[in-house]
Amino acid sequence: MSFTWSDFEQKITAATTSTDLEIIEHELFGRKAGLLTEALKGIKDLPAIEKKDAAKELNIMKKKFTEMIAAKRTELGGGSIDAIDVTLDLPKKQRGHHHLIPEFMRQIEEVFGRMGFDVAYGPEMETEELNFNKLNIPDDHPARDGQDTFWIKGVENTVLRTHTSPVQIRYMQEHKPPFRMICPGKVYRKDSDATHSPMFHQFEGLMIGKDINLANLKAVLVTALRELIGRDVEFRFRTGYFPFVEPGMEMDMMWQGDLEDSREGKWLEMGGCGMVHPNVLRNVDIDPDEWQGFAFGFGVERPMMIKHQIPDLRAFYEGDLRFLRQF
Ligand code: DAH
Repeated sequence: MSFTWSDFEQKITAATTSTDLEIIEHELFGRKAGLLTEALKGIKDLPAIEKKDAAKELNIMKKKFTEMIAAKRTELGGGSIDAIDVTLDLPKKQRGHHHLIPEFMRQIEEVFGRMGFDVAYGPEMETEELNFNKLNIPDDHPARDGQDTFWIKGVENTVLRTHTSPVQIRYMQEHKPPFRMICPGKVYRKDSDATHSPMFHQFEGLMIGKDINLANLKAVLVTALRELIGRDVEFRFRTGYFPFVEPGMEMDMMWQGDLEDSREGKWLEMGGCGMVHPNVLRNVDIDPDEWQGFAFGFGVERPMMIKHQIPDLRAFYEGDLRFLRQF
């Protein structure tokens, strides 16, 4: 490589960024192949007579370039960093996290997934046929009432699904038994108080086989809910009517912990369950003499209220950071 030292004078003068300057500095003073470094090292191999002058000249160069680079660095405004202060406080990043409801739904999928349950989803705008008829819900059932259900203006026979149960029908239309599936999702009803919200979340479960029975239902639900709540909770099953199961039951969980109100020791309803009604199986062309199984449909918010001791369900939706940051 041929060059003259004055090339470097020009380069330093022309540098416009501190990166330019670093490159030049490296070219001259780099410990391995820096041109000045090499030239200084080469002095020892010169004839004795030349050594003194060469050393003198190179040291003048060295001083000159060092000064020029330092001056340029000041001019460009970037001082060199001799050491990085690792204790320096960086501005704290505001990190977000999932809202506790989708997070809990993910855990539901995981816990049931480990028990071999498939995860299915369905639309939130659902046909009357799937939301009600195929589930054996008679025409005069109160759930169909305009008081309870959001009907879609201008779209015939369509509702905001009132439960996740229509996904049972969708799943059974597409799969042949035996199977087990869960479906978490949003549902809508015209309800609003401390334990009801017009939009809330449910998770549906369905397990069909040759000999699936109520004992299996109880085992699956109790195992999954204990794991989801993360501690031992008291449960009870009592009979309940739902047109799509026979027999039908409701499952309650006990308020336990340090809630400072009169709920302690009272039961909170988690949802319904039972053995899938033969009419429902027939509606999806599954022979009820050959196949049987259970279904359940639970609120997502309810077990979370017990888990985190949350007395009012509306806290989930108000977006109050003092509440949300606790989770
Ligand atoms: N869909 C019912 C509701 O929202 C809950 C339910 C009850 C679901 C019994 C089921 C079931 O799958 O078997 O009130």
